[in-house]
Amino acid sequence: MEVRFRDASPDRIRTDLLVLPVAEKELAQPVIRALDRRLKGGLSDRIKKGKFTGADGSTLLQSTNGMTPAAYVLLLGVGKGEELEVGTWRKAAARARKEAAAVGAAEMVFFLPAEGDGAGTAGAIVEGAMLASYQFNKYRSETKPPSELRLITLTRPGLKRSAALDRSVRMAQELVPGVFLARNLINEPPSTTTPRYLGEQAERHCRGRGLSVEVWGKKKIEAMKLAGLLAVNRGSVEEPRFITLRYRPPVRAKKKVALVGKGITFDSGGLSLKTAKSMETMKLDMSGAAAIIGAMSVIGRLSPPVEVKAYIPCTDNLPSGSAQKPGDVIRYLNGKTVEVLNTDAEGRLILADGLALAARERPDCIINVATLTGACMVALGTEVAGIFGNHQPLVEEVIRCGQETGEKLWQLPLVKEYREDIKSSVADIKNVGGSYGGAITAALFLQEFVGDIPWAHLDIAGPAFAEKELLTSPKGGTGFGVLTLLRFLAKFGQEKA
Ligand code: BES
Ligand code: MN
Ligand code: ZN
Repeated sequence: MEVRFRDASPDRIRTDLLVLPVAEKELAQPVIRALDRRLKGGLSDRIKKGKFTGADGSTLLQSTNGMTPAAYVLLLGVGKGEELEVGTWRKAAARARKEAAAVGAAEMVFFLPAEGDGAGTAGAIVEGAMLASYQFNKYRSETKPPSELRLITLTRPGLKRSAALDRSVRMAQELVPGVFLARNLINEPPSTTTPRYLGEQAERHCRGRGLSVEVWGKKKIEAMKLAGLLAVNRGSVEEPRFITLRYRPPVRAKKKVALVGKGITFDSGGLSLKTAKSMETMKLDMSGAAAIIGAMSVIGRLSPPVEVKAYIPCTDNLPSGSAQKPGDVIRYLNGKTVEVLNTDAEGRLILADGLALAARERPDCIINVATLTGACMVALGTEVAGIFGNHQPLVEEVIRCGQETGEKLWQLPLVKEYREDIKSSVADIKNVGGSYGGAITAALFLQEFVGDIPWAHLDIAGPAFAEKELLTSPKGGTGFGVLTLLRFLAKFGQEKA
Protein backbone atom coordinates (compact mmCIF):
# COMPACT_ATOMS: atom_id res chain seq x y z
CA MET A 1 0.00 0.00 0.00
CA GLU A 2 1.45 3.29 -1.11
CA VAL A 3 1.17 6.38 1.10
CA ARG A 4 1.25 9.96 -0.17
CA PHE A 5 0.96 13.33 1.49
CA ARG A 6 -0.93 16.33 0.19
CA ASP A 7 -1.43 19.84 1.40
CA ALA A 8 -4.96 20.48 0.22
CA SER A 9 -8.46 21.19 1.31
CA PRO A 10 -10.28 17.86 1.34
CA ASP A 11 -13.37 19.08 -0.45
CA ARG A 12 -11.24 19.68 -3.57
CA ILE A 13 -9.51 16.31 -3.83
CA ARG A 14 -10.52 13.81 -6.49
CA THR A 15 -10.72 10.39 -4.85
CA ASP A 16 -12.76 7.19 -4.53
CA LEU A 17 -13.29 7.74 -0.83
CA LEU A 18 -12.76 10.80 1.32
CA VAL A 19 -12.42 9.95 5.01
CA LEU A 20 -13.10 12.65 7.59
CA PRO A 21 -12.55 11.79 11.25
CA VAL A 22 -15.08 13.62 13.42
CA ALA A 23 -14.69 14.13 17.14
CA GLU A 24 -17.88 13.88 19.14
CA LYS A 25 -20.20 16.86 18.60
CA GLU A 26 -17.66 18.60 16.38
CA LEU A 27 -19.80 18.60 13.30
CA ALA A 28 -19.38 22.28 12.62
CA GLN A 29 -15.87 21.89 11.17
CA PRO A 30 -15.19 24.03 8.09
CA VAL A 31 -14.44 20.92 5.99
CA ILE A 32 -17.81 19.37 6.75
CA ARG A 33 -19.56 22.65 6.03
CA ALA A 34 -17.72 23.05 2.76
CA LEU A 35 -18.70 19.52 1.71
CA ASP A 36 -22.27 20.03 2.83
CA ARG A 37 -22.50 23.12 0.66
CA ARG A 38 -21.31 21.15 -2.37
CA LEU A 39 -23.79 18.41 -1.55
CA LYS A 40 -26.56 21.00 -1.26
CA GLY A 41 -27.27 20.20 2.35
CA GLY A 42 -27.29 16.42 1.68
CA LEU A 43 -24.65 15.75 4.30
CA SER A 44 -26.24 17.71 7.14
CA ASP A 45 -29.50 16.04 6.22
CA ARG A 46 -28.00 12.58 6.61
CA ILE A 47 -26.24 13.61 9.82
CA LYS A 48 -29.56 14.69 11.28
CA LYS A 49 -31.58 11.71 10.09
CA GLY A 50 -28.90 9.21 11.07
CA LYS A 51 -28.33 10.98 14.42
CA PHE A 52 -24.62 10.89 13.69
CA THR A 53 -22.78 12.66 16.52
CA GLY A 54 -19.21 11.53 16.01
CA ALA A 55 -19.40 9.01 18.87
CA ASP A 56 -16.45 6.64 18.81
CA GLY A 57 -17.04 3.81 16.35
CA SER A 58 -19.92 5.44 14.48
CA THR A 59 -19.72 5.94 10.72
CA LEU A 60 -21.67 7.74 8.03
CA LEU A 61 -21.01 6.84 4.42
CA GLN A 62 -22.44 9.18 1.78
CA SER A 63 -22.31 8.81 -1.98
CA THR A 64 -21.77 12.23 -3.57
CA ASN A 65 -23.29 11.48 -6.99
CA GLY A 66 -20.63 13.52 -8.68
CA MET A 67 -21.32 16.68 -6.69
CA THR A 68 -17.81 16.66 -5.20
CA PRO A 69 -14.52 15.43 -6.64
CA ALA A 70 -14.76 12.55 -4.12
CA ALA A 71 -17.09 9.68 -5.07
CA TYR A 72 -17.87 8.84 -1.45
CA VAL A 73 -17.50 10.71 1.80
CA LEU A 74 -17.04 8.78 5.02
CA LEU A 75 -17.50 10.51 8.35
CA LEU A 76 -15.73 8.50 11.03
CA GLY A 77 -16.72 9.10 14.64
CA VAL A 78 -13.66 9.11 16.87
CA GLY A 79 -15.28 10.08 20.17
CA LYS A 80 -14.36 12.78 22.62
CA GLY A 81 -11.51 15.07 21.67
CA GLU A 82 -9.56 14.76 24.91
CA GLU A 83 -9.52 10.99 24.84
CA LEU A 84 -8.03 10.67 21.39
CA GLU A 85 -5.03 8.43 21.58
CA VAL A 86 -3.00 6.54 19.04
CA GLY A 87 -5.21 3.47 19.38
CA THR A 88 -8.23 5.50 18.29
CA TRP A 89 -6.52 6.46 15.02
CA ARG A 90 -5.38 2.94 14.39
CA LYS A 91 -8.95 1.67 14.77
CA ALA A 92 -10.45 4.56 12.81
CA ALA A 93 -8.16 3.79 9.88
CA ALA A 94 -9.04 0.11 10.11
CA ARG A 95 -12.73 1.03 9.91
CA ALA A 96 -12.04 3.29 6.95
CA ARG A 97 -10.26 0.49 5.16
CA LYS A 98 -13.25 -1.84 5.67
CA GLU A 99 -15.60 0.81 4.25
CA ALA A 100 -13.16 1.34 1.38
CA ALA A 101 -13.38 -2.37 0.58
CA ALA A 102 -17.18 -2.24 0.75
CA VAL A 103 -17.34 0.48 -1.93
CA GLY A 104 -14.52 -1.06 -3.98
CA ALA A 105 -12.23 1.95 -3.56
CA ALA A 106 -8.78 1.61 -5.08
CA GLU A 107 -7.50 4.59 -3.12
CA MET A 108 -8.66 6.81 -0.29
CA VAL A 109 -7.88 10.20 1.11
CA PHE A 110 -7.66 10.46 4.88
CA PHE A 111 -8.01 13.86 6.49
CA LEU A 112 -5.40 14.20 9.20
CA PRO A 113 -6.44 15.75 12.50
CA ALA A 114 -4.81 19.09 13.19
CA GLU A 115 -2.42 18.44 16.02
CA GLY A 116 1.36 18.55 16.35
CA ASP A 117 3.31 17.54 13.27
CA GLY A 118 0.89 14.63 12.79
CA ALA A 119 3.71 12.06 12.79
CA GLY A 120 2.35 9.77 15.51
CA THR A 121 -1.15 9.95 14.11
CA ALA A 122 -0.05 9.38 10.51
CA GLY A 123 1.92 6.29 11.53
CA ALA A 124 -1.05 4.91 13.46
CA ILE A 125 -3.41 5.54 10.54
CA VAL A 126 -1.16 3.72 8.09
CA GLU A 127 -0.68 0.89 10.60
CA GLY A 128 -4.42 0.55 11.19
CA ALA A 129 -5.23 0.57 7.49
CA MET A 130 -2.57 -2.06 6.81
CA LEU A 131 -3.45 -4.30 9.76
CA ALA A 132 -7.10 -4.35 8.68
CA SER A 133 -6.16 -5.73 5.26
CA TYR A 134 -4.76 -9.04 6.53
CA GLN A 135 -6.37 -12.24 5.31
CA PHE A 136 -5.35 -15.87 5.69
CA ASN A 137 -6.80 -17.56 2.62
CA LYS A 138 -4.31 -20.31 1.99
CA TYR A 139 -6.78 -23.08 2.76
CA ARG A 140 -9.95 -21.65 1.23
CA SER A 141 -11.12 -22.75 -2.17
CA GLU A 142 -13.26 -19.65 -2.56
CA THR A 143 -11.50 -16.58 -1.31
CA LYS A 144 -12.89 -13.21 -0.58
CA PRO A 145 -11.28 -10.84 -3.04
CA PRO A 146 -8.28 -9.17 -1.47
CA SER A 147 -8.65 -5.49 -0.65
CA GLU A 148 -8.25 -3.31 -3.73
CA LEU A 149 -6.85 -0.40 -1.79
CA ARG A 150 -3.48 0.51 -3.23
CA LEU A 151 -3.02 4.09 -2.15
CA ILE A 152 -3.81 6.18 0.89
CA THR A 153 -3.27 9.92 0.75
CA LEU A 154 -2.92 11.79 4.02
CA THR A 155 -4.00 15.35 3.75
CA ARG A 156 -4.62 18.53 5.67
CA PRO A 157 -4.50 22.14 4.54
CA GLY A 158 -1.03 23.41 5.38
CA LEU A 159 0.36 19.90 5.92
CA LYS A 160 4.14 20.06 5.99
CA ARG A 161 6.19 17.02 5.29
CA SER A 162 8.80 16.47 7.93
CA ALA A 163 11.43 13.84 8.58
CA ALA A 164 9.37 12.68 11.58
CA LEU A 165 6.23 12.31 9.47
CA ASP A 166 8.03 10.36 6.75
CA ARG A 167 9.76 8.17 9.27
CA SER A 168 6.66 7.23 11.21
CA VAL A 169 4.81 6.27 8.03
CA ARG A 170 7.77 4.35 6.66
CA MET A 171 8.16 2.52 9.96
CA ALA A 172 4.51 1.48 9.91
CA GLN A 173 4.93 0.17 6.37
CA GLU A 174 8.07 -1.75 7.21
CA LEU A 175 7.02 -3.14 10.59
CA VAL A 176 3.49 -4.36 9.85
CA PRO A 177 4.87 -7.23 7.71
CA GLY A 178 6.40 -8.52 10.97
CA VAL A 179 2.88 -8.67 12.43
CA PHE A 180 1.65 -10.51 9.34
CA LEU A 181 4.46 -13.04 9.59
CA ALA A 182 3.48 -13.72 13.21
CA ARG A 183 -0.18 -14.09 12.18
CA ASN A 184 0.70 -16.49 9.38
CA LEU A 185 2.81 -18.66 11.67
CA ILE A 186 -0.03 -18.84 14.22
CA ASN A 187 -2.79 -19.43 11.67
CA GLU A 188 -1.06 -22.33 9.92
CA PRO A 189 -2.49 -25.66 11.07
CA PRO A 190 -0.52 -27.21 13.92
CA SER A 191 0.61 -30.15 11.82
CA THR A 192 2.27 -27.64 9.49
CA THR A 193 3.68 -25.33 12.15
CA THR A 194 5.87 -27.93 13.78
CA PRO A 195 9.04 -27.07 15.70
CA ARG A 196 11.03 -27.91 12.56
CA TYR A 197 8.85 -25.56 10.49
CA LEU A 198 9.29 -22.73 13.01
CA GLY A 199 13.06 -23.20 12.78
CA GLU A 200 12.91 -23.11 8.98
CA GLN A 201 10.70 -20.04 8.94
CA ALA A 202 12.98 -18.26 11.41
CA GLU A 203 15.93 -19.06 9.13
CA ARG A 204 14.05 -17.87 6.09
CA HIS A 205 12.80 -14.58 7.52
CA CYS A 206 15.52 -13.60 9.97
CA ARG A 207 18.75 -13.48 8.04
CA GLY A 208 20.81 -10.52 6.92
CA ARG A 209 20.75 -6.87 8.05
CA GLY A 210 22.66 -7.66 11.21
CA LEU A 211 20.58 -10.77 11.97
CA SER A 212 21.74 -14.32 12.43
CA VAL A 213 19.85 -17.50 13.25
CA GLU A 214 20.87 -20.70 14.92
CA VAL A 215 18.51 -23.66 15.21
CA TRP A 216 19.40 -26.48 17.56
CA GLY A 217 18.04 -29.99 16.97
CA LYS A 218 17.46 -32.67 19.56
CA LYS A 219 21.11 -33.74 19.91
CA LYS A 220 22.31 -30.22 20.63
CA ILE A 221 19.37 -29.65 22.98
CA GLU A 222 20.41 -32.79 24.86
CA ALA A 223 24.01 -31.68 24.94
CA MET A 224 22.91 -28.30 26.29
CA LYS A 225 20.80 -30.10 28.93
CA LEU A 226 17.61 -28.17 28.19
CA ALA A 227 15.70 -30.41 30.55
CA GLY A 228 12.31 -28.70 30.41
CA LEU A 229 12.13 -28.74 26.63
CA LEU A 230 13.20 -32.39 26.53
CA ALA A 231 10.67 -33.37 29.19
CA VAL A 232 7.74 -31.75 27.36
CA ASN A 233 8.93 -33.18 24.06
CA ARG A 234 8.96 -36.76 25.34
CA GLY A 235 5.34 -37.30 24.36
CA SER A 236 5.87 -36.19 20.79
CA VAL A 237 7.04 -37.75 17.57
CA GLU A 238 8.14 -34.31 16.33
CA GLU A 239 11.67 -33.37 17.32
CA PRO A 240 12.08 -30.25 19.44
CA ARG A 241 13.93 -27.18 18.25
CA PHE A 242 15.64 -24.40 20.13
CA ILE A 243 15.91 -21.28 18.00
CA THR A 244 18.26 -18.41 18.77
CA LEU A 245 18.04 -15.20 16.80
CA ARG A 246 20.63 -12.55 17.19
CA TYR A 247 20.62 -8.97 16.05
CA ARG A 248 23.73 -6.84 16.11
CA PRO A 249 23.28 -3.17 15.22
CA PRO A 250 25.56 -1.40 12.75
CA VAL A 251 26.79 0.85 15.55
CA ARG A 252 28.40 -0.39 18.76
CA ALA A 253 25.59 -1.42 21.10
CA LYS A 254 25.64 -0.15 24.65
CA LYS A 255 22.84 -2.43 25.74
CA LYS A 256 21.80 -6.04 25.36
CA VAL A 257 18.20 -7.24 25.46
CA ALA A 258 17.15 -10.89 25.69
CA LEU A 259 13.77 -12.06 24.41
CA VAL A 260 12.30 -15.44 25.28
CA GLY A 261 9.22 -16.85 23.53
CA LYS A 262 6.97 -19.83 24.19
CA GLY A 263 6.92 -22.06 21.13
CA ILE A 264 4.42 -24.81 21.93
CA THR A 265 3.26 -25.67 18.42
CA PHE A 266 0.25 -27.53 19.78
CA ASP A 267 -0.85 -27.89 23.38
CA SER A 268 -3.01 -30.95 24.03
CA GLY A 269 -2.14 -30.75 27.71
CA GLY A 270 -0.06 -33.95 27.51
CA LEU A 271 -1.19 -36.72 29.88
CA SER A 272 -3.06 -34.03 31.85
CA LEU A 273 -5.17 -33.89 28.70
CA LYS A 274 -7.30 -30.87 27.87
CA THR A 275 -10.96 -31.17 26.87
CA ALA A 276 -11.80 -31.27 23.18
CA LYS A 277 -13.23 -27.77 23.36
CA SER A 278 -10.25 -26.15 25.02
CA MET A 279 -7.90 -27.85 22.54
CA GLU A 280 -9.61 -26.30 19.51
CA THR A 281 -7.45 -23.17 19.48
CA MET A 282 -4.28 -24.67 20.91
CA LYS A 283 -2.31 -24.11 17.73
CA LEU A 284 -2.09 -20.58 19.17
CA ASP A 285 0.34 -21.75 21.83
CA MET A 286 3.38 -20.66 19.83
CA SER A 287 2.16 -17.05 19.65
CA GLY A 288 4.95 -15.83 21.94
CA ALA A 289 7.50 -17.42 19.62
CA ALA A 290 5.67 -15.99 16.59
CA ALA A 291 5.67 -12.47 18.07
CA ILE A 292 9.42 -12.62 18.57
CA ILE A 293 10.16 -14.13 15.15
CA GLY A 294 7.85 -11.52 13.59
CA ALA A 295 9.54 -8.66 15.41
CA MET A 296 13.04 -9.94 14.64
CA SER A 297 12.17 -10.41 10.95
CA VAL A 298 11.81 -6.63 10.55
CA ILE A 299 14.19 -5.35 13.22
CA GLY A 300 16.86 -4.64 10.61
CA ARG A 301 14.57 -2.00 9.12
CA LEU A 302 14.21 -0.26 12.46
CA SER A 303 17.90 -0.70 13.13
CA PRO A 304 17.84 0.09 16.87
CA PRO A 305 21.30 0.59 18.41
CA VAL A 306 20.84 -2.31 20.83
CA GLU A 307 21.93 -5.91 20.71
CA VAL A 308 19.05 -8.38 20.82
CA LYS A 309 19.20 -12.10 21.40
CA ALA A 310 16.06 -14.18 21.21
CA TYR A 311 15.67 -17.65 22.72
CA ILE A 312 12.78 -19.73 21.45
CA PRO A 313 12.17 -23.27 22.74
CA CYS A 314 9.79 -25.18 20.44
CA THR A 315 7.91 -28.45 20.84
CA ASP A 316 4.36 -29.69 20.84
CA ASN A 317 2.81 -31.06 24.02
CA LEU A 318 1.24 -34.47 23.40
CA PRO A 319 0.40 -37.59 25.39
CA SER A 320 1.95 -40.94 24.47
CA GLY A 321 3.58 -43.96 26.04
CA SER A 322 6.80 -42.03 26.34
CA ALA A 323 5.26 -38.77 27.59
CA GLN A 324 6.33 -37.23 30.89
CA LYS A 325 4.06 -38.19 33.78
CA PRO A 326 2.57 -36.20 36.61
CA GLY A 327 5.01 -36.78 39.47
CA ASP A 328 8.13 -36.71 37.30
CA VAL A 329 11.01 -34.47 38.37
CA ILE A 330 13.10 -32.31 36.03
CA ARG A 331 16.58 -31.11 36.92
CA TYR A 332 17.48 -27.78 35.26
CA LEU A 333 20.77 -26.36 34.10
CA ASN A 334 20.88 -23.88 37.00
CA GLY A 335 20.53 -26.73 39.52
CA LYS A 336 16.84 -26.18 40.25
CA THR A 337 14.56 -29.20 40.39
CA VAL A 338 10.90 -29.14 39.39
CA GLU A 339 8.18 -31.63 40.14
CA VAL A 340 5.76 -31.82 37.20
CA LEU A 341 2.32 -32.32 38.70
CA ASN A 342 0.35 -31.13 35.70
CA THR A 343 1.74 -31.75 32.22
CA ASP A 344 -0.57 -29.02 30.90
CA ALA A 345 1.53 -26.41 32.70
CA GLU A 346 4.18 -27.02 30.05
CA GLY A 347 4.90 -23.47 28.94
CA ARG A 348 6.75 -22.57 32.11
CA LEU A 349 8.80 -25.78 31.80
CA ILE A 350 10.23 -24.85 28.40
CA LEU A 351 10.49 -21.11 29.17
CA ALA A 352 12.63 -22.00 32.19
CA ASP A 353 15.31 -23.32 29.82
CA GLY A 354 15.18 -20.18 27.70
CA LEU A 355 15.22 -17.85 30.71
CA ALA A 356 18.11 -19.70 32.36
CA LEU A 357 20.19 -19.56 29.17
CA ALA A 358 19.37 -15.88 28.70
CA ALA A 359 20.14 -14.94 32.33
CA ARG A 360 23.51 -16.68 32.12
CA GLU A 361 24.65 -14.14 29.53
CA ARG A 362 23.68 -11.24 31.81
CA PRO A 363 21.74 -9.03 29.39
CA ASP A 364 20.49 -5.61 30.54
CA CYS A 365 16.97 -7.00 30.57
CA ILE A 366 14.92 -10.05 29.67
CA ILE A 367 11.44 -9.92 28.19
CA ASN A 368 9.49 -13.12 27.75
CA VAL A 369 6.30 -13.48 25.77
CA ALA A 370 4.00 -16.46 26.26
CA THR A 371 0.42 -17.69 26.00
CA LEU A 372 0.95 -18.96 29.49
CA THR A 373 -2.27 -19.22 31.47
CA GLY A 374 -6.01 -19.43 31.03
CA ALA A 375 -6.13 -17.68 34.40
CA CYS A 376 -4.69 -14.52 32.85
CA MET A 377 -7.48 -14.61 30.26
CA VAL A 378 -10.05 -15.00 33.02
CA ALA A 379 -8.57 -11.98 34.78
CA LEU A 380 -8.08 -9.61 31.85
CA GLY A 381 -10.21 -10.91 29.00
CA THR A 382 -9.21 -11.23 25.38
CA GLU A 383 -7.88 -7.77 24.61
CA VAL A 384 -5.46 -7.19 27.45
CA ALA A 385 -2.22 -9.00 28.20
CA GLY A 386 -0.89 -9.42 31.72
CA ILE A 387 2.56 -8.11 32.50
CA PHE A 388 4.70 -9.05 35.50
CA GLY A 389 8.23 -8.08 36.39
CA ASN A 390 10.95 -7.73 39.00
CA HIS A 391 11.95 -4.22 37.88
CA GLN A 392 9.24 -1.57 37.92
CA PRO A 393 10.80 0.92 35.44
CA LEU A 394 11.10 -1.88 32.87
CA VAL A 395 7.48 -2.96 33.37
CA GLU A 396 6.27 0.63 33.05
CA GLU A 397 8.30 1.21 29.92
CA VAL A 398 6.83 -1.87 28.23
CA ILE A 399 3.32 -0.81 29.24
CA ARG A 400 3.96 2.64 27.74
CA CYS A 401 5.19 1.08 24.49
CA GLY A 402 1.97 -0.93 24.45
CA GLN A 403 -0.09 2.23 24.82
CA GLU A 404 1.74 3.74 21.88
CA THR A 405 1.09 0.74 19.64
CA GLY A 406 -2.47 0.02 20.73
CA GLU A 407 -1.55 -3.22 22.52
CA LYS A 408 -3.03 -3.17 25.99
CA LEU A 409 -0.97 -4.45 28.91
CA TRP A 410 -1.98 -4.50 32.55
CA GLN A 411 0.40 -5.18 35.38
CA LEU A 412 -0.35 -8.04 37.74
CA PRO A 413 1.58 -8.51 41.00
CA LEU A 414 4.28 -11.07 41.84
CA VAL A 415 2.78 -11.80 45.25
CA LYS A 416 5.66 -13.12 47.38
CA GLU A 417 3.31 -14.95 49.73
CA TYR A 418 2.06 -17.14 46.88
CA ARG A 419 5.55 -18.56 46.46
CA GLU A 420 4.35 -21.06 49.10
CA ASP A 421 1.90 -22.43 46.52
CA ILE A 422 4.64 -23.71 44.25
CA LYS A 423 6.65 -25.49 46.95
CA SER A 424 7.01 -29.20 46.22
CA SER A 425 7.20 -32.07 48.65
CA VAL A 426 9.94 -33.81 46.66
CA ALA A 427 11.69 -31.13 44.57
CA ASP A 428 12.59 -27.43 44.89
CA ILE A 429 9.35 -26.29 43.26
CA LYS A 430 6.37 -27.75 41.43
CA ASN A 431 4.91 -26.58 38.15
CA VAL A 432 1.40 -25.74 39.41
CA GLY A 433 0.07 -23.62 42.24
CA GLY A 434 -3.26 -23.84 44.02
CA SER A 435 -6.71 -23.19 42.61
CA TYR A 436 -6.41 -19.41 42.60
CA GLY A 437 -4.07 -16.81 41.12
CA GLY A 438 -2.84 -19.12 38.36
CA ALA A 439 -1.34 -16.33 36.28
CA ILE A 440 0.64 -15.17 39.32
CA THR A 441 1.95 -18.58 40.38
CA ALA A 442 3.03 -19.19 36.77
CA ALA A 443 4.93 -15.87 36.79
CA LEU A 444 6.50 -16.72 40.16
CA PHE A 445 7.68 -19.99 38.66
CA LEU A 446 9.38 -18.13 35.78
CA GLN A 447 10.98 -15.68 38.20
CA GLU A 448 12.97 -18.56 39.68
CA PHE A 449 15.00 -18.68 36.46
CA VAL A 450 15.92 -15.04 35.83
CA GLY A 451 18.06 -14.36 38.89
CA ASP A 452 18.60 -10.65 39.43
CA ILE A 453 18.31 -9.58 35.77
CA PRO A 454 15.59 -6.95 35.16
CA TRP A 455 12.79 -9.01 33.68
CA ALA A 456 9.29 -8.57 32.33
CA HIS A 457 6.90 -11.41 31.54
CA LEU A 458 4.03 -10.85 29.12
CA ASP A 459 1.18 -13.36 29.44
CA ILE A 460 -0.58 -12.94 26.08
CA ALA A 461 -2.99 -15.91 26.41
CA GLY A 462 -5.96 -13.56 25.83
CA PRO A 463 -4.98 -11.19 23.02
CA ALA A 464 -2.78 -13.59 21.00
CA PHE A 465 -5.74 -15.08 19.18
CA ALA A 466 -9.00 -13.45 18.15
CA GLU A 467 -11.97 -15.78 18.52
CA LYS A 468 -14.15 -13.02 17.05
CA GLU A 469 -13.18 -10.72 14.23
CA LEU A 470 -11.54 -7.49 15.45
CA LEU A 471 -11.17 -4.21 13.60
CA THR A 472 -7.47 -4.71 13.05
CA SER A 473 -7.46 -8.49 12.75
CA PRO A 474 -9.69 -11.25 11.40
CA LYS A 475 -10.34 -14.32 13.56
CA GLY A 476 -7.13 -16.11 14.41
CA GLY A 477 -3.62 -15.05 15.32
CA THR A 478 -3.32 -11.31 15.96
CA GLY A 479 0.44 -10.92 16.11
CA PHE A 480 0.01 -9.26 19.51
CA GLY A 481 3.36 -8.16 20.90
CA VAL A 482 5.26 -7.59 17.66
CA LEU A 483 4.76 -3.82 17.56
CA THR A 484 5.24 -3.35 21.30
CA LEU A 485 8.51 -5.29 21.29
CA LEU A 486 9.80 -3.28 18.33
CA ARG A 487 8.84 -0.02 19.97
CA PHE A 488 10.55 -1.08 23.17
CA LEU A 489 13.74 -2.08 21.36
CA ALA A 490 13.83 1.19 19.43
CA LYS A 491 13.57 3.21 22.64
CA PHE A 492 15.78 1.04 24.82
CA GLY A 493 18.57 1.40 22.30
CA GLN A 494 18.37 5.17 22.46
CA GLU A 495 18.71 5.35 26.23
CA LYS A 496 22.07 6.41 27.55
CA ALA A 497 24.00 3.62 29.18
N1 BES B 1 -1.42 -22.83 26.69
C1 BES B 1 -2.11 -22.89 27.92
C2 BES B 1 -2.68 -21.53 28.34
C3 BES B 1 -3.77 -20.96 27.47
C4 BES B 1 -5.10 -21.25 27.73
C5 BES B 1 -3.46 -20.11 26.43
C6 BES B 1 -6.10 -20.70 26.95
C7 BES B 1 -4.46 -19.56 25.65
C8 BES B 1 -5.77 -19.86 25.90
C9 BES B 1 -1.19 -23.36 29.02
O1 BES B 1 -0.19 -24.24 28.63
C10 BES B 1 -2.02 -24.11 29.99
O2 BES B 1 -2.55 -25.12 29.64
N2 BES B 1 -2.12 -23.58 31.20
C11 BES B 1 -2.89 -24.20 32.22
C12 BES B 1 -2.08 -24.16 33.48
C13 BES B 1 -2.64 -25.00 34.59
C14 BES B 1 -2.58 -26.45 34.23
C15 BES B 1 -1.84 -24.72 35.84
C16 BES B 1 -4.19 -23.40 32.35
O3 BES B 1 -4.16 -22.18 32.19
O4 BES B 1 -5.21 -24.02 32.57
MN1 MN C 1 -0.83 -26.26 28.63
ZN1 ZN D 1 0.41 -24.14 26.72
